Amino acid sequence: MKIKLAPMTDGDIDEVLEIEKLSFPSPWSKRLFLNELANPNSNIVLARDDTDTLLGFVCFWIVADETHILNIAVHPKFRRQGIAKRLLTHVLESAKNKGISYFALEVRNRNQAAIEFYKGFGFKAVGVRKGYYADTGEDAILMELEIKGQTNVSS
Ligand SMILES: CC(C)(COP(=O)(O)OP(=O)(O)OC[C@H]1O[C@@H](n2cnc3c(N)ncnc32)[C@H](O)[C@@H]1OP(=O)(O)O)[C@@H](O)C(=O)NCCC(=O)NCCS
Repeated sequence: MKIKLAPMTDGDIDEVLEIEKLSFPSPWSKRLFLNELANPNSNIVLARDDTDTLLGFVCFWIVADETHILNIAVHPKFRRQGIAKRLLTHVLESAKNKGISYFALEVRNRNQAAIEFYKGFGFKAVGVRKGYYADTGEDAILMELEIKGQTNVSS
């Protein structure tokens, strides 16, 4: 599948919210996405196919010398086709171009798909935040990646 990446704008919000709602037990609100779009540290990148169907998105912050991945989701119809891999590779490359090599994120401890996904990029679990997710009481696994030299992703 041909995948095009582009920054999110306000006009994309309803499509993004649809994927968000299909992907998370406590989805981000419209207001939260609008706050991210207005935040100069925040980046939201969308993946669309060649018919402009929204496939997925990633939200990340680049602050000082680190990148924090806040949110990544792919529409359930399009999972396991390399879309999130393409999005995260883009995040790593964008940061690398700014000389940033440290990446961090939190993931629900029962979200095996996401944990496997991040491990595939070399992320390592480095800590646990007990009961971090108020909705389910789940712990957050803190994962980190430090890239030395070349980006260690295969796509
Ligand atoms: C996690 C998520 C973003 C992955 O998106 P995706 O586009 O399906 O992922 P990709 O196709 O790029 O997968 C790349 C690799 O990640 C791993 N992976 C992805 N989904 C997986 C799953 N369900 N189980 C195990 N490994 C998985 C695999 O190694 C996969 O490579 P492979 O398909 O060649 O085996 C997607 O499942 C999703 O949107 N989940 C709901 C939202 C979410 O939990 N986001 C993470 C928040 S921290």
